[in-house]
Amino acid sequence: MAKLTKLDDIVALCKRRGFIYQSSEIYGGLASCYDYGPLGAELKRNVRNAWWKTVVQMRDDIVGLDCSILMHPMVWKASGHADKFADLVTVCKKCSTRTRVDHLQEKPGGQQEHTEHVAIDAEEAKEHNLSKKVCPSCGTVGQFNKPMAFKLMFETQMGANVDDTMTLWLRPETAQGIFANFRNVLDSTRVKVPFGIAQIGKSFRNEVTTKAFIFRTREFEQAEIEFFCKPGTDEEWYKHWKDFRFNWYLNLGMKKENLRFRDHDKDELAHYAKACVDVEYKFPFGSGDWQELEGIANRQDFDLRQHQRGMRTMNAWYETRDVTKLQLKDEAEDWIKGPLSYFDEESKERFVPYVIEPSAGIDRSCLAFLVDAYDEDEINGEQRNVLRFHPSLAPIKTGIFPLVKKDGLPEIARNIYDELKGCFACFYDEKGAVGRRYRRQDEAGTPCCITVDGQSKEDQTVTVRDRDSLKQDRVNTAQLKNYLRDKLGL
Ligand code: GAP
Repeated sequence: MAKLTKLDDIVALCKRRGFIYQSSEIYGGLASCYDYGPLGAELKRNVRNAWWKTVVQMRDDIVGLDCSILMHPMVWKASGHADKFADLVTVCKKCSTRTRVDHLQEKPGGQQEHTEHVAIDAEEAKEHNLSKKVCPSCGTVGQFNKPMAFKLMFETQMGANVDDTMTLWLRPETAQGIFANFRNVLDSTRVKVPFGIAQIGKSFRNEVTTKAFIFRTREFEQAEIEFFCKPGTDEEWYKHWKDFRFNWYLNLGMKKENLRFRDHDKDELAHYAKACVDVEYKFPFGSGDWQELEGIANRQDFDLRQHQRGMRTMNAWYETRDVTKLQLKDEAEDWIKGPLSYFDEESKERFVPYVIEPSAGIDRSCLAFLVDAYDEDEINGEQRNVLRFHPSLAPIKTGIFPLVKKDGLPEIARNIYDELKGCFACFYDEKGAVGRRYRRQDEAGTPCCITVDGQSKEDQTVTVRDRDSLKQDRVNTAQLKNYLRDKLGL
């Protein structure tokens, strides 16, 4: 039988070891929705924490925020999502498969284009010539229905009865919660431009095509920074954030050869962006595909100015309570002094800040870290699967085993476990041959394992076996905590 692709191996490992399961699996599953199992929940939390630590905790120019998923519909009117956040889709006349127009190729199996989403008008549909495009499902050429705009935001209703029911959207990005709170953060903290606001949270998009396990799903988690700076300093900050975010992946052990930047072409830029670059990862889909891991954009002052227009439009909103029937008011003539402007005490200047936005996906990062860490090797003629996670991402930091289940060894191992578990995520295991127990931890990505043996009773030492070098150190139990802190860098 042909060897499965690496992604299939990873999906199988994730299911087998409790990293990631299909959502609602007992009912046949729900397409493109996934649940994180015991190991996956730890991995995901570690990815979130590593992001938060470097962008909020370790920097003194960024503060955190945690906004609600449901927001006032005017937020999405002002941001442009209510009118334009849609994909252009078409349906194959032969097999009825629905495909995004920007994903159609002229040759079967051609390289997929990179775009995530493009803001479109229904009018744009007419301009697409699909006569040479190939249906990715049945291979028929040029037989497509007229493209249509497919809205990407999930709708829901708020309110107890018909009269006060309001249509809301599940947020498609966390960024707008940050813009909507820009004034609150300025007024309630001591931040001064340049500064950033960071947020991690769930976003929802009714994607036309989902893709490759947790790569593109309809519910996902984003980690976004909106970094506010003085116009004119934006290019410098854009460069700073490019380097800072690229290094974050490298510092967490991602292989440099699997990461690259891809600048967006001018005609690919969103209407609000002056520049945009993707950090791409070489994901193992099909023949090996560079795909977006994170986007870094110079959004200029677009969002804050749009929300100033939104605030000016509120009286009209009270009349219809329906943003789809509403026209945003034009900008005030003195928009530069508007409610979302900033007064610089030092230079005595007022301006609407420019924004640099590094926007990462937590689930997509988890997938990239899983792919990057995955390895197969051989120990003493036996094949092993191993996840070579960076220690700070590893779901379990150390496994603790008594060599045998007798002679007082389990008691000593349990005591070590009780001693360490307050500091590190540990796993106690006394079942089966010790080699098999090592193998199980290797597959979970545990950086090292501690074994209590006969000698431990005599000299209070244990062996610590390294997942990658397989080297075994003899360590005194009294020194274990410090030894592990040093070894794992935690
Ligand atoms: N605020 C900007 C923004 O949302 P984006 O490029 O649409 O930009 C940023 O999304 C990141 O969010 C992507 O680089 C990706 O990591 C993640 N992301 C976007 N859509 C996703 C989806 N459907 N499934 C998983 N992750 C997604």
